[in-house]
Amino acid sequence: MTSAPGQANYFRVEGGNRLEGEFRVQGAKNAVLKQMAATILASGEHHLHNVPHIDDVDIMSELLASMGIGSEWAGDDHLVVITPGASGIKPLADYELVEKIRASVVVLGPLISRLGNATISMPGGDDFGHRPIDMHLAAISELGAAFTTSHGYVEGKAARLRGADIALEFPSHTGTDNVLMAAVLAEGTTTISNCAREPEVSDLARMLNSMGARISGMGTSTLTVEGVPELRPANHTIIPDRIDASTALGAVGMNQGEILLRGARAEHMEMLLRKLRELGLEILPDSAGLLARSSARLRAVSISSLPYPGIATDFLPILVAMLSTADGDAIVTENIFAGRFKYVDELRRLGANMTTHGHHVAIRGVSSLQGAPVKATDIRAGAALVVAALAAEGESRVYGTSHIDRGYVDLPRRLTALGGKVERCSDKH
Ligand code: EPU
Repeated sequence: MTSAPGQANYFRVEGGNRLEGEFRVQGAKNAVLKQMAATILASGEHHLHNVPHIDDVDIMSELLASMGIGSEWAGDDHLVVITPGASGIKPLADYELVEKIRASVVVLGPLISRLGNATISMPGGDDFGHRPIDMHLAAISELGAAFTTSHGYVEGKAARLRGADIALEFPSHTGTDNVLMAAVLAEGTTTISNCAREPEVSDLARMLNSMGARISGMGTSTLTVEGVPELRPANHTIIPDRIDASTALGAVGMNQGEILLRGARAEHMEMLLRKLRELGLEILPDSAGLLARSSARLRAVSISSLPYPGIATDFLPILVAMLSTADGDAIVTENIFAGRFKYVDELRRLGANMTTHGHHVAIRGVSSLQGAPVKATDIRAGAALVVAALAAEGESRVYGTSHIDRGYVDLPRRLTALGGKVERCSDKH
């Protein structure tokens, strides 16, 4: 959904409407992008279900296509990926595509594991700062790969990967995904300690096991992988997106109302739900997902992000938006990406009273926000601005919608179905 030349897309948001109805939680972006990369590991026809039709999935399809792997939609959320034999795969991830989507670095593990070599453009920094891949490279090196870097590309080679005991310096999410996909076809046993424990990592491991891999320890901080010589194609249903669910929870929390989050899984966001209840939301289990109700002004609560099972860094922009109108003062601390506070200035344009101090934001809740033009700088910042604009008096324009469309299935349509007023527009300029 990119803009035509000379046009700027924005969402026109009218605030102040009570939200009611059903929000269908989409499939998890941060699971499916890695699961698409996992299709490199086995020839044949892979079937992925509950795939969110978002721009990042389209870019990942383009990247796979550039390597000789075709994909097509067989329904609204059913993606078929067709992987040729090893000789039909070109193990190169070019600058143009890696630059569009950082997550494309996860093709490295499967390419080296299946083909013994891979060349990928080094991902640069992004809107929340410096994002190196040193831990990915160090971990895959321990399996026997050798890396060289030149002209902005990193090239990895290995005759055959061999299992090893790997300890990650930090539980990197995509770092764990990458080394996991490298280890499944390695000879012998690999252990990955201090691994990421995110539900999306466990979902990738489950998909790999359904393809014939032998991974255990999902959800714990050590994964054990017994290498197998080959894998078969996948038929896998992706877990619901907990960040998408948190976006709708933020909207109902700030606006009041009652919504059913169809498909939401409480066990994937226990710490978040605990905090939201402290803020004043009522959240109840329901056979179809979760029921969320909000009927009064939220209460201020201090929050820090941490790797899973802590509060995800991706929830923080939504929580900061919610705290902007909560009753009282709060300190929010970002421990994962130091540079992830650009949206704070935009929330201030809506009337929020908050200041950043290093990796902390000090927030004094105001009684109401006022609509204004604002600009999204990344996916979650964009979602937080939409959520805040839904609670602001009058009209807002949220620019930078291409960021939001990277990660959300038509957010305006799904929020409008709840009674929010969010319209996709474009300006000629
Ligand atoms: N880090 C390193 N070296 C590495 C890898 C990571 O220093 O080799 C550092 C990072 O700079 C950061 C920290 O470790 O300070 C955590 O990074 P992590 O590797 O866990 O993040 P990621 O895997 O690159 C994924 C999600 C992000 C999410 C983070 C944290 C995907 C595609 N992306 O990124 O999602 O914020 O985990 O949970 O899975 C989003 O969806 O909007 C998004 C940014």
